[in-house]
Amino acid sequence: MRVHYDTNHGKFWKPRSESATMSEKQPTYNETVVKGFMISAIVWGATAMTVGLLAALQLVFPALNLDLPYTSFGRIRPLHTNAAIFGFALSIVFAAVYHSIQRLLRTRLFSNALAMIHLVLYNLTIVGAAVTLVLGYSQSKEYAELEWPLDLLIAFWWVIFMINFFGTIAIRKEKQMYVAIWFYMASVITIPILFIVNNLAIPVELFKSYSVFSGVFDANVQWWYGHNAVAFVLTTPFLGIMYYYFPKHINQPIYSHRLSIVHFWSLIFIYIWAGPHHLLYSPLPDWAQSLGTAFSIMLILPSWGGMLNGFLTLTQAKERIQTDAIVKFFLVGITFYGMSTFEGPMMSIKTINSLSHFNDWTIGHVHSGALGWVGFMSFAMLYYLVPRIWKKKLYSERLANTHFWLGTLGILLYVISMWISGVTEGAMWRAIDENGQLAYPHWISITEVLWPFRGFRALGGALYLSGVIIMIYNFIKTVRGGGAEASAPVPQAA
Ligand code: HEM
Ligand code: HEM
Repeated sequence: MRVHYDTNHGKFWKPRSESATMSEKQPTYNETVVKGFMISAIVWGATAMTVGLLAALQLVFPALNLDLPYTSFGRIRPLHTNAAIFGFALSIVFAAVYHSIQRLLRTRLFSNALAMIHLVLYNLTIVGAAVTLVLGYSQSKEYAELEWPLDLLIAFWWVIFMINFFGTIAIRKEKQMYVAIWFYMASVITIPILFIVNNLAIPVELFKSYSVFSGVFDANVQWWYGHNAVAFVLTTPFLGIMYYYFPKHINQPIYSHRLSIVHFWSLIFIYIWAGPHHLLYSPLPDWAQSLGTAFSIMLILPSWGGMLNGFLTLTQAKERIQTDAIVKFFLVGITFYGMSTFEGPMMSIKTINSLSHFNDWTIGHVHSGALGWVGFMSFAMLYYLVPRIWKKKLYSERLANTHFWLGTLGILLYVISMWISGVTEGAMWRAIDENGQLAYPHWISITEVLWPFRGFRALGGALYLSGVIIMIYNFIKTVRGGGAEASAPVPQAA
């Protein structure tokens, strides 16, 4: 059912002229913290992708390890994942939350001081993470590598963020809370719970601790956390971004407000149970593995409900698909959300997982979500926000389009080569010769076959990164004065 809904003020849709007086009553919004997190996102995003590209090249040319412990694959891989997820994606989330809740709730932030403390401590943590990971300090838990002093710092600034988030909700002028805020709220509450439980550890030295969990129990807690890091860092807040920035940009209501509410409740209820799909064929009890599979398959329903709501919203502005780079980023971002949330449930089925687990297929799945969904939704939001926050025309729409095409080509090269490489590797592992022996007993003979696909992946990553460098150039030129090339009128301060 189609419901007209004003995403800015959480009210049913009003024609522009009727709501024009609204801007006169606008409180003074804090844009400094939004700018800070946008800059953090760009800096950490470029760093993460450069390190990711180095990791990809090392898998093609091992000499690029440089024979140094600091640049070895084992250290730069967690550096890449931490910088990408916690440096890039989380900065985007904080920028989006601080920017949009002020508008959606029609109030200033609860505390500007707390917001600045959050910005500073957060960036110090990411610097600390980069240094300690390169030096080899790690808890050896994926996406939870950081040692206990940094964990404590993270818990501290998350509480500060939480106080500011709920404080802003408490002082709001707008009674009704738009669905984007519910999606943000799910992350604000769930992330600290996951993070604190999985990082419970006994410190033995300044940078060494031991988890309080052990064995299969440890694995289960770890993937309850790991999977929900995907859910509550890389999915729910980005759905909030979709529900707020996409309708705002095309100046149309979301297709169905009712569907967005069903999407929200069903998604968060189902996501939290799906972690065991990371532990199929492990010593985890069989019933728990099957539970993970069942919930993962169910997850396709709310995910595709959300994707459809995005697509149907776009039908109201389909004439802009050809010309508007931001619309293109949103369209391809939502498409990759649909693709990765179709692929994920398939990979949760045991027979398929026995082929995809431990190989490049998983890496392809990860990056169709990370580059396609997270990356493109982030770029769409940045292109929307930079001209508005700095109050300058975008320097070049043409460069934004170039970025879009380089990025799209990069993702396709990345994920297609990883799918081929993964399926090839999985099939070679299980191939048997006429005597019933393994046909490819030597790892190196399989690796040699995968070499060209890993080369294509590195090329895909290089294209994606070059698009990001063009975006950064475009933003620098925009902030320094805007450009004659800009075709769109200067946007009003949102
Ligand atoms: C230029 C872009 C990128 C390149 C070239 C790249 C490359 C890589 C490489 C080579 C790996 C290691 C694969 C392996 O161990 O076999 C990796 C892992 C990973 N990357 Fe990226 N990456 C890029 C962007 C991103 C972004 C933007 C994100 C997140 C928002 C991301 C998230 C991850 C994650 C979560 C893993 C670990 C996957 C797993 O353990 O299954 N990457 N990446
Ligand atoms: C319906 C939604 C989804 C389901 C059911 C799902 C399911 C899966 C499965 C079965 C695996 C392989 C586990 C293994 O064999 O070890 C996996 C890995 C992964 N997925 Fe998804 N996925 C979904 C959506 C996404 C999205 C949207 C993203 C990114 C934005 C994502 C990021 C990841 C990452 C980072 C891993 C690698 C974890 C690791 O081993 O390090 N997934 N997912």
